[in-house]
Amino acid sequence: MPSLRPLLSLCLLFPVILTGCNASAPNAAESPNALMTLKERYADFFLVGATADLESYITHSPLLKNHFSSMTTENAMKFEQLQNIEGEFTFETADNMINFARENGLSTRGHALVWHRQTPDWLFNNSDGKPVSKDELLSKMRAHITTVVSHFKGRIEAWDVVNEAIMDDGTMRTHTEEADDQKSAWYGIAGEEYIAEAFHTAHAADPKAKLFYNDYYNYIPARQQAIFNLLQTLLNQDVPVHGVGLQAHINTIPSNDPNHQSSQQSVKNLEKAIQLYASLGLEVHITEMDVSLYIGGFPYTEKDYYTEASIPESLKLKQAERYAAFFEMFRRNSDIIASVTLWGIADDNTWLSEFDSGRADFPLLFDTQHQPKKAFDAIMNF
Ligand code: XIL
Repeated sequence: MPSLRPLLSLCLLFPVILTGCNASAPNAAESPNALMTLKERYADFFLVGATADLESYITHSPLLKNHFSSMTTENAMKFEQLQNIEGEFTFETADNMINFARENGLSTRGHALVWHRQTPDWLFNNSDGKPVSKDELLSKMRAHITTVVSHFKGRIEAWDVVNEAIMDDGTMRTHTEEADDQKSAWYGIAGEEYIAEAFHTAHAADPKAKLFYNDYYNYIPARQQAIFNLLQTLLNQDVPVHGVGLQAHINTIPSNDPNHQSSQQSVKNLEKAIQLYASLGLEVHITEMDVSLYIGGFPYTEKDYYTEASIPESLKLKQAERYAAFFEMFRRNSDIIASVTLWGIADDNTWLSEFDSGRADFPLLFDTQHQPKKAFDAIMNF
């Protein structure tokens, strides 16, 4: 409702003089916000982003354009999407998405150049199935980063250069992790060196882009210390790292099992990580926030899965309160946080509903009909 906005600003400036502005009512601060968009409400604090996929940037474009000031491509710029066959780069989808973002004034985050997942087989293995040598891997990595970052030069503000290199206990992610999808062939073949090398290569290709190290569960003390140590070491070696991304995939209700990571998911623990990283002079982005309705590690069965219609009001409220508490902390740290991105736009398109279990989740600010949820109101009303 843009036509009401000029009147609104006047009301805010001259509440007593102008008739029709009830500034003394307890909800005076609430009603104007209902007319504002998310990006307007947060304009003085930080960019508010959303991730989009190859369909949602079209199907959800009204929300993206109205409410968000930054966009990340959810999968379209991952290694296997851009170079699935060695030497053949496929930029069309990512180009369309980034062009859409730029034409609509959204800042852009590139995600992610080097990650242990969503990589093609040829990267780590020769045609005979044997692992490539360290030199070969680093040279393939440099070729990928140089081509990709040069292609998007001047069109991507921030790159997640290296994603998820640390484990929960603070050790480096290696090739010996138990679960296959946790193993890092980057580390297994090249050792820790690939990290610095990735940043140097990206910087050479686009010296103006801000380069980020991105990781999850930053609220776990051992993890945040290890990430801090890694970043400090890189900076001491003059590696061009400019920022750190904190994913922030959290739950509405943290687990009460002290061995489950989500038991450590407190505002305080995440704030500590943010301030620790910022003490290195790094810019902080929250890069992948969503708030799952499910309790981590709890043995749900199919009959317990939520549908949008079955979510209890009390749980919707709790989710809203959780969003509000984290956003309050983000605002308090807005001198060091430059961007907060949600991992999705609306509940009809979230990676948390993608798993084989068939369990639907509703972790975002807009519902499946693209209407604002209680969580949206909660982060608007302050
Ligand atoms: C996820 C996407 O959302 C899914 O669509 C895809 O199947 C797997 O990857 N951390 C990251 C993101 O850094 O790249 C992941 O995105 C979510 C966890």
